[in-house]
Amino acid sequence: MSEPAAEPRGRRQLPQQVRANLFGAVLDAMTDGVMVVDDRMRLVVSNRALRDTLVLPPTCLGQPLAQLVDHDGLLRAFTEVLAGSGPRQIEWTHKAFVTRLLDIAVVPLPDHDYWGHRALGVVRDVTDRRQTERMQLEFIANASHELRTPVASILGWAETLVDAPPKDPRKLGAVHTTIHRQAKRLHTLLDQLLDVSQLDGERWNLATDAVDLAAVCHAQVTAQREAAEAAGLSVTVAVPEALPSVLCDRQALDLVVGNLLQNAIKYTPTGGRVELRAESVAEPGGRAVRLAVADSGIGIAEEHQPRIFERFYRVDKGRARHVGGAGLGLAIVAGLVRRMGGALQVHSAVGKGSTFLVTLPVG
Ligand SMILES: Nc1ncnc2c1ncn2[C@@H]1O[C@H](COP(=O)(O)OP(=O)(O)O)[C@@H](O)[C@H]1O
Ligand SMILES: [Mg+2]
Repeated sequence: MSEPAAEPRGRRQLPQQVRANLFGAVLDAMTDGVMVVDDRMRLVVSNRALRDTLVLPPTCLGQPLAQLVDHDGLLRAFTEVLAGSGPRQIEWTHKAFVTRLLDIAVVPLPDHDYWGHRALGVVRDVTDRRQTERMQLEFIANASHELRTPVASILGWAETLVDAPPKDPRKLGAVHTTIHRQAKRLHTLLDQLLDVSQLDGERWNLATDAVDLAAVCHAQVTAQREAAEAAGLSVTVAVPEALPSVLCDRQALDLVVGNLLQNAIKYTPTGGRVELRAESVAEPGGRAVRLAVADSGIGIAEEHQPRIFERFYRVDKGRARHVGGAGLGLAIVAGLVRRMGGALQVHSAVGKGSTFLVTLPVG
């Protein structure tokens, strides 16, 4: 039987200096700020994240905390913890070059003969997390608000049908039509919310197939012919048959073209024109296909143009409500185009019309 090999000495016991260097390297690699304060309220340990976040000078070690930070809550937390209280948690809106929201936990460190009584502060930057939380709440509030209108309408008219159905067949027909229209609006809205959430969570795995853009354009125009005719618009497709196939997800491209066409129809007054054009273009990354969805409609003022791709953003809420949109269509289009490796642009002038350009890689 052989003896187990002895562990090399050096591995068990690192020399003092090496240990100190390792300790410093570990602290500096951390993304949270770390600070240790002694019983005379001096800063005795700091890491890089702390100095960056609180904008402290490299010479901060050994200095009184009160001279380094201007925040009563933080100073009080350290004083109390050093006086024997339990851990403390504070929030600090720190204003330097940028404003950051900091979440700081202060805890006592075990007493030691050598260094006495100390407290540790861990500083976490929660700005981005709070921003995400705020955006999620805002999204839920917007979505609920949009859902409320059709639901209230359907409920109200359904109650009328139950309690006192109109005797006049024309009035009765109008109630049925309203319920049907609001139910369709609800359906569209739920579909869009699902699309947004799937796009956002990257749960939507987009295929990269060779897709015939001309076929997609013709299919969408056919699907929306009735709406275009009802609005008194002429819709033309000028997509050369010889165009190379685009490399993308067919269903996603249907949604992109469908949404842009629907907007062009919705926001163009009677007698206007809508055109779908496509051409092959040379991009820095290789050849691409550019689709233009152009209308002679109401146009979009310059100050609104960067914002129309945001969720729930509508230039004219009153008008958009009338035509039934929640402001999600372009957010979905933008998300899909980005995920397909393409680019999206808008050119528009109020009263003249708008052109949305979608550039997609070819197969
Ligand atoms: N072709 C267009 N012409 C004029 N305005 C448009 C056009 N397309 C989009 N918009 C504006 O951008 C907003 C956002 O569009 P979208 O996200 O599709 O929402 P929705 O169509 O549901 O209102 C619209 O409410 C409208 O104000
Ligand atoms: Mg739309």
